[in-house]
Amino acid sequence: MGFTIAIDGPAAAGKGTLSKAIAAHFGFAHLDTGLLYRAVGAKTLLGVEPIEAALKLVASDMDDTDLRSPEVAQAASKVAVIPEVRAALVDFQRAFGARAGGAVLDGRDIGTVICPDAKVKLYVTASAEVRAERRYLELSAKGDASTREQVLADVKARDARDMERVEAPLKPADDAVLIDTSEMSIEDAIAKALAAIEAHTA
Ligand code: DC
Repeated sequence: MGFTIAIDGPAAAGKGTLSKAIAAHFGFAHLDTGLLYRAVGAKTLLGVEPIEAALKLVASDMDDTDLRSPEVAQAASKVAVIPEVRAALVDFQRAFGARAGGAVLDGRDIGTVICPDAKVKLYVTASAEVRAERRYLELSAKGDASTREQVLADVKARDARDMERVEAPLKPADDAVLIDTSEMSIEDAIAKALAAIEAHTA
């Protein structure tokens, strides 16, 4: 069983940046599990039935650039409510978490459902307003025409759907270390995460 780090939290809290930095620091592999749900969500926008899309999902289906749009994010959050979709994606994620060389997985239910025995669990969050502003700046830099108001409404809609679903809702694991990045620079958030991981391994 490898060394597994579970990172959960709501949309645009900084999980992606943190996960990549942690994985690079320790030389671990990184899986952004949101991409699995985004890949399924993207298929449903093309008319594919969600459970079928999840069962057929293979890594080669995942084109990162197509999966970062607001439409795909909402579609991902919608298919993520379906228990059979979640079930179809469990084995792949658990196998990734058990990699001999160590693994960082980020998502919504990594510490609670996918890797409950992870060595370290982080719950990364920030206020909805701060997260929406970060996502808005990211999207507008890419030429997306969404307004601040739309992005905030999207973030809140996803928070509600992700936290209120019956199956594997977003919530901190009992043993997760909480990192609120609302008023933190990315460098400080990385330093805090690395310190928390080192404290758990000492
Ligand atoms: O992390 P993200 O924003 O790319 O995730 C997109 C959606 O996928 C998110 O709103 C809910 C779902 N998701 C999930 O239910 N469980 C995960 N482990 C990761 C993502």
